[in-house]
Amino acid sequence: MPASIPAIDDDVFNRDAVLNARAVDDRLRELAPVVWLNRENIAVMGRWEHVSDGLREWENFSNTSRPWHDPNSVRPEILLTDDPPEHTRVRAIIATALSPRAMKSMEEHFHKIAADQVDALMARAGQEIDAVADITAPYVHKVLPDIIGMPDKGREQMSAFGHAVWATMGPMNELFQEAMVGAEPLLEWAAWACSREQLDPDSLGMQMYLAADRGEITEQEAHLLVMTILSAGADTTVITMANAIRAFCQFPDQWKALQAEPKLLRNAFDEALRWDSPSRMAGRIAMKDVEIEDYVIPAGTRCGLLFAAANRDPRKWTDPERFDIKRDLRGHVGWGYGIHSCVGRTLAQLEADALLGALMKRVDRFEAAGDPQWWITTIGHGPAKLPIRFYAR
Ligand code: HEM
Repeated sequence: MPASIPAIDDDVFNRDAVLNARAVDDRLRELAPVVWLNRENIAVMGRWEHVSDGLREWENFSNTSRPWHDPNSVRPEILLTDDPPEHTRVRAIIATALSPRAMKSMEEHFHKIAADQVDALMARAGQEIDAVADITAPYVHKVLPDIIGMPDKGREQMSAFGHAVWATMGPMNELFQEAMVGAEPLLEWAAWACSREQLDPDSLGMQMYLAADRGEITEQEAHLLVMTILSAGADTTVITMANAIRAFCQFPDQWKALQAEPKLLRNAFDEALRWDSPSRMAGRIAMKDVEIEDYVIPAGTRCGLLFAAANRDPRKWTDPERFDIKRDLRGHVGWGYGIHSCVGRTLAQLEADALLGALMKRVDRFEAAGDPQWWITTIGHGPAKLPIRFYAR
C-alpha cells in the first residue's frame, strides 16, 4: 500500500511566499519527497534525485499539460509545451540556430558591448548603483534583441514584457492579475518586433523564418520560436548574472579566486545558477502512476519539479548555501535536464563570459549597499533591484 502524499494548505505563491521563495521551497523539499498543495491541486517534488529523474523521464512526466496550463495564454505555446515527436522536430530548428558553432559568430559583438558598458560604468566606481538596472539588464536588453535582429523601437519594454510572460507560468492569483495590467501593448510590441518584416535579414530570428521557407516548420511556428527566444532568454540571464554579482558581494574571496584563475568563469556562472536559480519550478503532468519512494503520484496529476530547491538539496550538495566557484557542478538542474534542458545555454554562457569577463578585468571588489528587492512573480525568482558598490582595480 503506498503512503498517502502529505498535503498542505499553504499558499506558496502569494506575495509573502514569493518574498521568501528560498525558505518556502526548501521547506517543501524537507517536508517529504512529494508534497500535495491543496490550494493548487498539484504535487511538488524538491529533492534533487526526484527532480532530476522527473526531468529525464519525459514519458512519465509530460510537458503537454502543466499546472495552471492555459492553452490560450499569451505565452508562446511551442517547444516547452510539446513532447516528442513534435518537440524533437521543432527543437532541431532552434538548437541548430543556437548551437555553439552558430553562437561563435556573435561572441565578438558580446565582448564589444560588454567592454563599452563596463568602460562607461567605471565613472561610477564607489557610488551606490543597482547591479540589475545599471549592469546586467542594459547589457542583455541590448545584445539579445540585437542578435535576434529586432528593431530598436520599444526595446525599453523588455523588462515589462518579460514580467507579463513569466506571470503566465504560475497560478492566476493576485500577482498574475497585477502583471496582466497593461500587458496587451507589450505583447503587441513583442509580436510586431519578432515578425518577419521587422527582423534583420541576417539574424538569429530570421533563421526561424528561413526554416519555415524550407518547409521544416510553419510560418506561425517560426514566429512563436522568435518570441520564445525573446521571452526565455532575457530575465533568466539578467537575473543569473545579477546573482553572480550578489554572490561575489557575499563571498569576496571567490571574486579574488576568479581573478587569480579566470578560466573558472564558466564554472562560477553555473555555480551562481545553482546557488540561486531564477526559475522555481518546471511544470509537468504525470502520464501514469509514478512511484516516488513510498508514494505514488496518480496518473493525470499536474506536478511541479522544484529546480531551485533541488539545486540546494543537502542530500546532493555539500554546504549548499556556500558559493564556491570550484564546486563540482555535475548534475545541477539550473539549466533543466533531459530533452527540455535549456537550448539557449551556450548563448547565456557566452553573454556571461563577455560581461563578467569585462568586470573581472576592471573591478577590484563588489560590496552590498543594501538588501535586494525581490522580483514579485510566482515562478521566477531573483533580485529585481540589487544595490551595490564596486571599486576599480
Ligand atoms: C542563465 C540563463 C538561463 C537559464 C537559467 C535558463 C533556464 C532554463 C531551464 C531551467 C529550462 C528548462 C525548463 C523546463 O524543463 O521546464 C530552460 C529551457 C529553455 N530555455 Fe533557457 N535558460 C536561460 C537562458 C536561455 C536563453 C538565452 C534562451 C534563448 C536564447 C533560452 C531558451 C530556452 C528554451 C527555448 C527552453 C525550452 C527548451 C525545450 O523545451 O526544449 N534560455 N531554460
